[in-house]
Amino acid sequence: MREEPILEFDRRAFIASLGGATAVAAMSSEAKADALEDHQQQMLNKAAAEKFPTMADMDAQIETRPYRRGVGNLFVGGKAGNVKRLAPMPAAPTLLDYFQLRFHEISNHVLQSANRAMKTGMSEEVILACLLHDTVHQLVKVDHGWWGAQMYAPYISEKATFAIRYHQALRFFDDPEHGYKYPDLYRRMFGEDYKPEPYIEATYKMVRNHKWYEEPRLVTVNDLYAFEPNVNPKIEQFTDIVARNFKQPKEGLGYDNSPSAHMWRTMAMPDHPL
Ligand SMILES: [Fe+2]
Ligand SMILES: [Fe+2]
Repeated sequence: MREEPILEFDRRAFIASLGGATAVAAMSSEAKADALEDHQQQMLNKAAAEKFPTMADMDAQIETRPYRRGVGNLFVGGKAGNVKRLAPMPAAPTLLDYFQLRFHEISNHVLQSANRAMKTGMSEEVILACLLHDTVHQLVKVDHGWWGAQMYAPYISEKATFAIRYHQALRFFDDPEHGYKYPDLYRRMFGEDYKPEPYIEATYKMVRNHKWYEEPRLVTVNDLYAFEPNVNPKIEQFTDIVARNFKQPKEGLGYDNSPSAHMWRTMAMPDHPL
C-alpha cells in the first residue's frame, strides 16, 4: 500500500509545459518518459518545500470571508460568488435523487472513495460508508462525521453508521499498519501546529479499542488517496450495493418522519427562509 498520497497530476499543465500536444506527439517515447520523470521530481520538490499555514494564519482569515468555513456547500456560493438555482426534487426522493440533484460539490470525492474501496475488495458496508461518508458536507461541515452518521442512521446498518461517525476523528491519527498517514491536506486546512481537541482524541482512543475499529479506519484509508484526476465513477456503479444496504423509505427521504427527515428536507429546500 502507498505511504504517500498521490501527487495531483495535472495532465494539461504537463503537456502545456512541453509546448502543447503537437510538440508532445513529435517526442520519442524515451524523451516523453524523461520529461515525465523530471516533471514528477519537480512536483515532489515543490511538495517538500511547501510551507503550511499556522493556526494563527487560519485564525487571521476568519474575518476576511463573508461565510464561516463550517458552512454546508448548498448554502454558500462557489468561486463565482452567487449560489445557483437548484432543480426541484421529486415528490418521494431517493438517495440517487439526492446524489443527482443535491450532492454535486461532493459527489466526485465520495464516488472516488467508494470506487477505490470496491477495487481494493472492501466489504459492502465499507464501500457504502465510503460512498456516503462526506455527503453531509452539503448541509454542514463542522463535525461532519457525527452529523453524517445521524443523517444516515435510520437507513443503514449500525456498523456503517459507526464507520461514518468516526472516520472524522480517525483522520487525525496515523495507522502505519493500514498505510494511513496524517495528510498534508489537513496541515493546509487546520494549520501545521493544530492539535485535535480533547473530544476528538478521546473519541480516537475509544474507537481504537473498539471491535469495529477497522470500519472507520478503512474509510479513512480509501478517503486519503481518493483525489485521482481523470477518475469519474458514476453512482450507477453502486446501485446494487445501495439496494442491498440502504433502506429507502417509500415516502421519500425527508417525508418518512424519521429522526433525521428534517436534515433531508433542509437539503431538498435550502432556499426556504425558515
Ligand atoms: Fe470526511
Ligand atoms: Fe472524504
